[in-house]
Amino acid sequence: MSQQITVTEHLLLHQRKNPMATGRFTRLLSELILSAKIVSREVNKAGLVDVLGFTGDVNVHGEEVKKLDEYANRILIHRMSRSGMLCAMASEENADMIEIPLGLPTGEYVLIFDPLDGSSNIDVNVAIGTIFSIYRRKSPPESPVTPEDLLQKGSEQVCAGYFLYGSSTMMVYTTGEGVHGFTLDPGVGEFLLSHPDIKIPEQGKIYSVNEGYEAYWDEPTREVVRYFKSTTNAIKRPFSLRYIGSLVADFHRNMIYGGIFMYPVDNRTSGKYRPKLRLLCEASPMALLAEQAGGMATDGVGRILDIEPEHLHQRVPLFVGSIRDVEMVKTIYERARKG
Ligand code: AHG
Ligand code: MN
Ligand code: MN
Repeated sequence: MSQQITVTEHLLLHQRKNPMATGRFTRLLSELILSAKIVSREVNKAGLVDVLGFTGDVNVHGEEVKKLDEYANRILIHRMSRSGMLCAMASEENADMIEIPLGLPTGEYVLIFDPLDGSSNIDVNVAIGTIFSIYRRKSPPESPVTPEDLLQKGSEQVCAGYFLYGSSTMMVYTTGEGVHGFTLDPGVGEFLLSHPDIKIPEQGKIYSVNEGYEAYWDEPTREVVRYFKSTTNAIKRPFSLRYIGSLVADFHRNMIYGGIFMYPVDNRTSGKYRPKLRLLCEASPMALLAEQAGGMATDGVGRILDIEPEHLHQRVPLFVGSIRDVEMVKTIYERARKG
């Protein structure tokens, strides 16, 4: 541990540097941190208590819901709606906007989250995470919350980050002043600054994609992956393939080592080319983190952070990581579009 700075101290330091900060935002993050510690505790007990397996329900995306997905979702909704700092929330697991129940205090922020990312890894002890994204409401305070309060482009985020439940539990976040990583010291129950000012290497050496779907890809996507496997690419040797299947874990590894995470469109369902990852609770927060760490995020055409969301569960193709690798992907798609 390089310095024994807790995440709360780090937040306060940041708050002092910003005369606009009121302390309310710090309270919001502190509440989020407590929720994640509770989820982390439960994740660590998985296997000992009856939290593995499916609930029997199907979520808004038609995916089977795992018990831990639902548990994490419940904890976050319950605690965060009582934080007094939010006017609305949205979760990957809920079809509609989550309003703050009448009678509870509200605030000027909006929270969007993926309560448990990497569901397919829950039951097999492989790293999973929680992703969060915070915006300031657009509508005037005291007025009813509107869909536009949630449908903001990623560049408007005031904070984004994730908790990674891996070999240790980490929190990585940005408020637009770099990316900072903290590791949970289970002995004292605090997140301590372990990765100050993270920077993604400009040139990566790892590519991460579910290559099992190659048969469902379009030709430009095949060309992109051929590039990373060739001996004539930027590093003159094939990149290593690493794919966990948890965005948080794959992104985190590539941010530290350098590399690119890709989830392109594929035509596995109904023969139409469709993306899988969600703009608001997955792509936008990761894009802000990537840019703040000196990396890049695109949907193959433009900047992820510039996409104006049309609905809560909008999906986008995602290419995120080291700047040179993401630029190359964009160039290959551009070339293919121009024919
Ligand atoms: P979630 O568990 O929140 O539904 O997200 C799963 C996402 C993401 O974490 C991961 O990168 C991707 O789905 C894996 O999908 P495949 O199994 O299709 O590769
Ligand atoms: Mn997810
Ligand atoms: Mn999820």
